[in-house]
Amino acid sequence: VEQNRRDFIGMALGGVTAVGGVIALGAMKKTWDPLPSVQSAGFITVDLSPMQEGELKTLQWRGKPIFILKKTADMKKNENRDVVAGNSNYTVIIGLCTHLGCIPTWIPARKEFSCACHGGVFDASGVNTFGPPPRPMDIPPFKIDGEKLVLGEEGPEYQKL
Ligand code: FES
Repeated sequence: VEQNRRDFIGMALGGVTAVGGVIALGAMKKTWDPLPSVQSAGFITVDLSPMQEGELKTLQWRGKPIFILKKTADMKKNENRDVVAGNSNYTVIIGLCTHLGCIPTWIPARKEFSCACHGGVFDASGVNTFGPPPRPMDIPPFKIDGEKLVLGEEGPEYQKL
């Protein structure tokens, strides 16, 4: 009986230790998350590694839409605009039409962005190819950290473009 009792206490203590560990991990994880002040200063980190070729990701940064397109092999490379991370090229642009600021739509079948407001068209790199937009869509300041994209910071890759 005495032996069983000790085992039980041992198990109970083990349980407490495990729960304590989970709580400690949770507390640690909190400190890794960006502080609210960092988020409001406009830095976002996006992990590009799960993206599929041809996939378009849309997110918000500093109140603006951002398009991230992982280029496929048949999309024209653009050395002056492509963001290179790992072995892949990405288009990273502020998703606002440079004519009057509408949000263009990505048309996968045509591999271009189309602006419904006045018929503007941009290629897969965000370069204006048709209609009233006077220039390509803007590239937000970014930094590459492995396969992560940090929006809001001007890394060397951004300064080269
Ligand atoms: Fe896009 Fe006019 S706002 S074409």
